[in-house]
Amino acid sequence: MEIIQSEQAYSSIYKRSIEDPEAFWADIASDFQWKKKWDNVLEWDFHKAETKWFLGGKMNITENCIDRHLPKRASQTAIIWESNDPHEASKHITYQELSDHVCRVGNMLKNQGVKKGDRVCIYMPMIPEVAYAILGCARIGAVHSVVFAGFSAGSLVDRINDSGCKVVLTSDGSYRGDKKIDLKVIVDDAMLKCPTVEKTIVYQRTLNPVNMKPGRDLWWHEEMAKASTQCPAEVMDSEDLLFILYTSGSTGKPKGMVHTCGGYMVYTNYTFRTVFQYQEGQVFWCTADVGWVTGHSYILYGPLSAGATTVIFEGIPSYPDMGRFWHVAEKHRVNIFYTAPTAIRSLEKAPLSFVENYDLQEIKILGSVGEPINEEAWHWYHEHIGRGQCPIVDTWWQTETGGIMISPIANVTKLKPAFATLPLPGVQPAVMDENGNELTENGVEGRLTIKFPWPAIARTIYGDHQRFKETYFSTFPGKYFTGDGCKRDEEGFYRITGRVDDIIIVSGHNMGTAEIESAIDEHSAVCESAVVGYPHDIKGQGVYAYVICYDKPHQEENLRKEIRDMVSKVIGPIAKPDKIQFVSGLPKTRSGKIMRRILRKVAEGETSNLGDTSTLTDPSVVDEIKNGAL
Ligand code: WTA
Repeated sequence: MEIIQSEQAYSSIYKRSIEDPEAFWADIASDFQWKKKWDNVLEWDFHKAETKWFLGGKMNITENCIDRHLPKRASQTAIIWESNDPHEASKHITYQELSDHVCRVGNMLKNQGVKKGDRVCIYMPMIPEVAYAILGCARIGAVHSVVFAGFSAGSLVDRINDSGCKVVLTSDGSYRGDKKIDLKVIVDDAMLKCPTVEKTIVYQRTLNPVNMKPGRDLWWHEEMAKASTQCPAEVMDSEDLLFILYTSGSTGKPKGMVHTCGGYMVYTNYTFRTVFQYQEGQVFWCTADVGWVTGHSYILYGPLSAGATTVIFEGIPSYPDMGRFWHVAEKHRVNIFYTAPTAIRSLEKAPLSFVENYDLQEIKILGSVGEPINEEAWHWYHEHIGRGQCPIVDTWWQTETGGIMISPIANVTKLKPAFATLPLPGVQPAVMDENGNELTENGVEGRLTIKFPWPAIARTIYGDHQRFKETYFSTFPGKYFTGDGCKRDEEGFYRITGRVDDIIIVSGHNMGTAEIESAIDEHSAVCESAVVGYPHDIKGQGVYAYVICYDKPHQEENLRKEIRDMVSKVIGPIAKPDKIQFVSGLPKTRSGKIMRRILRKVAEGETSNLGDTSTLTDPSVVDEIKNGAL
């Protein structure tokens, strides 16, 4: 595979990738270990929302992430693990050790009757075992469904039941800064409503006492001790399921995005090596949680398939102090550092001495992901973490895209603060106007679509292909609709402007406003609610809730706390509203639709220029809302 090393090469390779995508991707795919080569590179029909890559190819992604490296890298560190507690020893796990652990997990699951195609839920903290769990599933062809360990029991129930998981892998507890979270208690609670789960396997991390239900609950260490380190990799078809990962929808329940083996492997590897210009021997640190797609693709599959050393960090940027990231980067001589704008914004607010205390000379490349990065944060990151020298790759992509789509290529293509810049080879963006016309010129603004498949595009929503088709392929027939707005400037550089649907991105996490509303509505005092996002200094977007109560609340602060606790219980702490405004009504049109445009403007602090309100049934509520704005 030819890795792009100059701007000229980018242009010519990009051109080739568009003119003959099949030849382009076949060439890249031939670098991997296949048990049987594919018969056809691509079959697709965006009108039916169908895409298949490397048809007939047989492989196993773990052989490409582990086995094929062993002759050369058995004793090279695959994973560096850094604890939440800076005083706990870090761990260096070699590729050989990774192989042994992953095979053991594969066998442990097989011993519990898990077979190819069975779904396994992983609800674990950021410890090496979560990597073994994920790869152990892939080893035997079980479909992993990782659920972020900050989600509530209710969210866990929804996800487990939607995909019918047979086994849950979890731990007794987890550490997060100075907090200890009893994960097993949350799992126990969820298990009351999860009839498909036969076994839960519990890793001991915090050693807090837990209830082990006989016949259902097993200890990880006991089961692993019985499992051998030899586990032949299951033969997978390119299009067999690799994993399901839930992401919020603008309406209804979360969507289980389905990714398959072959295309995802090829794409995450290619984008990892290209965007970050990964060099042999470098240490790569992506600070995401494995519960999100960024963790799947750029903590595990991308780096490991490239034979890199990847860092898994259990903690948070602010513990024990705001210098933790830089401490970890110095300690492990991190060369490539990939984080989210929300983290940068919060660290930027801390005294600079937290950065200056550490030697960050080893950092060569910086990355950003998850939400638009504002210029101020970009410059701070560039100057103080990158010493004014390191390129920042602002990578735009989604759970649905599997890997990075639009991004600078480090040290190759031009940077422009707050712009994700150019599409990677093989990616064909199209900007559409609201009437469905493609805007082919530069200097335009519209909705971002992709008009040709790339190997890691999600194949469907688990169990609901119709919803997949409607959500992504019906707004602009024949094109994949991202749900994002964008600008393309005179140079052809893309700037992602944010979601155009009812999804908000809070601290880099996608949340459906409908999901938060239904959690708020569970409070017995609440009659109805409407949630919108508003600009938040650190989180990017904050959650602003307008709430109608049955009776006018007497003690507003108490009720606010109860509502926040309710959301935390139903979804998880990440979804808690930042602002709650009690109102007597919501601006609704005669057809009963909430005019969110008005709610958004008020939440943004704009009280004039609310646009046309003449179609509202009761325009007077607008004044009340404006006057009570928080
Ligand atoms: C947003 C995360 C601007 C975007 C990988 C997208 C971004 C959503 C960027 C997907 C970026 C992600 N600049 N916006 N560099 N990266 N987004 O599924 O709105 O958690 O649609 O995937 O995050 O979030 P998801």
